[in-house]
Amino acid sequence: MVNKELTLEERKELIKKRIGKIENKIMVMSGKGGVGKTTVAVNLAFALQMKGFNTGILDADIHGPNVPKMLKIENFKPNTTPEGILPAKIPIGRGRALEVISLAFFLEEDSPVIWRGPLKMGALQQFLSDVVWGNLDYLIADLPPGTGDEPLSIAQLIPDITGSIIVTTPQDVALMDSRRAVNFSKRLNVPVMGVIENMSGFRCPYCGKEINLFKMGGGERAAKELGVPFLGRIPIDPVIVKDSDNGRPFILNHHDSEAGKAFNGIVDRISGWKGR
Ligand SMILES: Nc1ncnc2c1ncn2[C@@H]1O[C@H](COP(=O)(O)OP(=O)(O)OP(=O)(O)O)[C@@H](O)[C@H]1O
Ligand SMILES: [Mg+2]
Repeated sequence: MVNKELTLEERKELIKKRIGKIENKIMVMSGKGGVGKTTVAVNLAFALQMKGFNTGILDADIHGPNVPKMLKIENFKPNTTPEGILPAKIPIGRGRALEVISLAFFLEEDSPVIWRGPLKMGALQQFLSDVVWGNLDYLIADLPPGTGDEPLSIAQLIPDITGSIIVTTPQDVALMDSRRAVNFSKRLNVPVMGVIENMSGFRCPYCGKEINLFKMGGGERAAKELGVPFLGRIPIDPVIVKDSDNGRPFILNHHDSEAGKAFNGIVDRISGWKGR
């Protein structure tokens, strides 16, 4: 990393300079693990990029940084210039590229990160102040589950954060935890852009009938109950798993599928969001 010697105030100034100019800064969070945050973050970022918005992904999951794996850029080694760290750039045609930075780029493969709170805060601060982003319209931060150090740091360090997106699955346990995520956001004065109900129903590929593996509609009910927008539901699609494992964003090749249309509908709602 660069700029090691800065005080906290100087670092915050630098963060303002680097990130303050990005108009839309969104954190993707959840109460529970494994509900599809990284999948949502990556596909939303690509969908935004395909709609013409310059987009970057900040992988803020220190203990399980999965974004590089989902984009097959695990072996990327960022260049450090006197100005700062340059993110990975994934070309998407017409000279445009999606920018990605992840702590995974700086770690040994498969090595666990064993850091306590203050060290994590420090790493994220440094991360936010050192990365030289291009001219972005959107920065999407993918967070670990829960309401711990990473979401707290991101919510406090990113200046004028646009809002949070809360991903949930439809079961009662997941919903209970997403209420906590909504309240966390509200307490930190981060506007809740809405709730996404992921893994919501599965269409049998043989008979076409819908099966509600994890129930359905709970995310929408929870959003209503908490007074926050509902952004949409994404069904279970085995192709999403295959694509994620192969490092290919699902939305690139399947925008006409039920899940692809759901992602695009959500992006329309997000890009039309009028703010606080
Ligand atoms: N709608 C979906 N249909 C099918 N599989 C999905 C769907 N959404 C996510 N998955 C799969 O579920 C798994 C977990 O997703 P993901 O890693 O995005 O969750 P996460 O919330 O980021 O997890 P963590 O809390 O560990 O960060 C992945 O294998 C992913 O491909
Ligand atoms: Mg994740």
